[in-house]
Amino acid sequence: MKARRTIAALAAMLTYVTMAAQANILTIDAGDKGITIQKTMFGLFYEDINFAADGGLYAELIKNRSFEFDDPLAGWDIIGNVRVMNDGPFANNPHYLRLGYPGHPSMLTAICNEGFFGIGVEAGHQYRISFWARTSGTRASEQISLHLCQPSTMGEDQSLCQAVVTVDSPEWKRYEALLTSPVTDAKAEFRAVLVREHKAHTPGQSVDMEHISLFPVETFNSDENGLRKDIAEAIKALEPGVFRFPGGCIVEGTNLETRYQWKNSVGPVENRPINKTRWSYTFPHRMFPDYYQSYGLGFYEYFRFAEEIGAEPLPVVSCGIACQFENEPHWHSDASLDELQPFVDDALDLIEFANGPVDSKWGRVRAEMGHPEPFNLKYIGIGNEQWGEGYPQRLEVFVKAIREKYPEIGIIGSSGPYKDGEDFEYLWKEMRRLGVDLVDEHYYANEEFFINNAARYDSYPRTGPKVFAGEYACHGVDGRKWNHFNASLLEAAFMTGLERNADIVHMASYAPLLAHVEGWQWRPDMIWFDNLDVMLSCSYHVQKMYSTNSGTHSLSIRMDGANVTGQKGLYASAVRDEEKKQYIVKVVNLADQAQEICLQFKGLSRKETLDCPVTCTVLHSDDPYAENTLENPNAIVPVTSVIEPSSWCKNKLTGTIGPRTFAVYTISY
Ligand code: AHR
Repeated sequence: MKARRTIAALAAMLTYVTMAAQANILTIDAGDKGITIQKTMFGLFYEDINFAADGGLYAELIKNRSFEFDDPLAGWDIIGNVRVMNDGPFANNPHYLRLGYPGHPSMLTAICNEGFFGIGVEAGHQYRISFWARTSGTRASEQISLHLCQPSTMGEDQSLCQAVVTVDSPEWKRYEALLTSPVTDAKAEFRAVLVREHKAHTPGQSVDMEHISLFPVETFNSDENGLRKDIAEAIKALEPGVFRFPGGCIVEGTNLETRYQWKNSVGPVENRPINKTRWSYTFPHRMFPDYYQSYGLGFYEYFRFAEEIGAEPLPVVSCGIACQFENEPHWHSDASLDELQPFVDDALDLIEFANGPVDSKWGRVRAEMGHPEPFNLKYIGIGNEQWGEGYPQRLEVFVKAIREKYPEIGIIGSSGPYKDGEDFEYLWKEMRRLGVDLVDEHYYANEEFFINNAARYDSYPRTGPKVFAGEYACHGVDGRKWNHFNASLLEAAFMTGLERNADIVHMASYAPLLAHVEGWQWRPDMIWFDNLDVMLSCSYHVQKMYSTNSGTHSLSIRMDGANVTGQKGLYASAVRDEEKKQYIVKVVNLADQAQEICLQFKGLSRKETLDCPVTCTVLHSDDPYAENTLENPNAIVPVTSVIEPSSWCKNKLTGTIGPRTFAVYTISY
């Protein structure tokens, strides 16, 4: 056991010593029943930003598989006779490619796809290539050879592996083949080549190809239209209580036409119309012209993912107001109250899609997609970061309609993009008037905010809507807006206040969740990835230390009779977990010096005497601005050690917490 202890763990480990006079005594009221902690408490804010969906969590490896980008050949290179056609078999995605005779028997017709910043393939892994095709020339059948290629190789052959598929019908049909990559490469390419047979026979050649798709066979839960396994598993490991999707700003759209429309994201993937995401152009200094939403990862897949990771699904829909940051004051893109009904219908239909019987219109769509059982949706968010009078006016219409038809559904309103101030206060007042169940607060804020706001919720009214701290992250100032250790430590300090106020804070989620290292628009983010690997930021570890130790009841923990909200740089919260039979104490020391602390449990019954081993997990970095990177993903990770039973003295544990350290003490009873 001792061998496993590292210096960092030792610094924070509690060892029994006679209580030193200067020890900070943290008294935990173990005799109290405590405040019930909602299972939804620590959850996820997922947005398709930073290539989180296509090129990220969605395991599709082909970019622009349906040729529907503004430039139908974006992502594709062509050789020979390739024409873009516009009368394909899928009404919402009519484009396809016609590969024809190249003009000379020795010439070649082929198409190449670059993927999302390349195509990541791994040695020994299988990839399923599928496409829709028909013969369109004079011959009854044509052959297409399909390759994973390594364009950068110095070897003789760029092709890593190939399969040949015979297209044998003039009717559209789906074809597929498996390719096994012999190497690992983050920047492979896909190629489809019209096979030349006997030179004399080639002139009549022609084949049409549509919806060309490439997935790893190994996806999360082995779904064919699946999710990237490593990213999905990193998310699942957070044991999230709630999963909010599909965003943020993309719910609103730059204008109403570009808002996320969930109905476009269900049904056969081939026929889901694409959307150009605002994140392709919102920040001209980080522009991504090829960033579109294929909606291959759509609402059905989001609901299933929530189910698979054990989180309550929390979809958010447009309230009929497009992103106000992008429109006001000179421009407006709102549905008037008279025009609002289709938006309200979208919300009602979504509830039916999730929960309705299989013979209802939208319940049938869900069942036909493979999930006859309801998804047990309990919450819906209406609007994202709205402000001003227009929002409550519209929200009121939604609230009335949802309450009337689905009184059991919790409605989440918004306090807008600001963490405080006039607009924030106004919206909270309106949310109370409308009687929503939760209010979604957002704060991307600097270090000072996180240091000073651990008591934010201590004085919130105890009646009315509950709080969903739906988007927050510490954004360092002075050029320090990235995922360094210090930001995560301040988040940990702040989060003690979420836990202490579990009676009114029912949900909380760091934001955003995902970012491709070559495709990000917004940072910091919780999980980073490239085409092959995943990197867990320090903030990820903090979130996980909370979410996997969230307990069932929040207990009072006090120092000198007050909540521990920064006195001497210390922050603390305590919970009891009645299922795991544990007390869990979280302590953050923001000071540059180690500090003596004493965890004192009062109110224990005699038979509850604590003399058990204590597990202590610490997150620490000597360099506050150090970070995890893809090259060094484990630079800063939680370290767990065990404190032996001999460390206890009369239900008190005394020892040292290291400087700038987040420590979680788990005590079984
Ligand atoms: O998380 C990034 C963006 O921040 C979200 O889309 C929006 O809700 C907020 O402004």
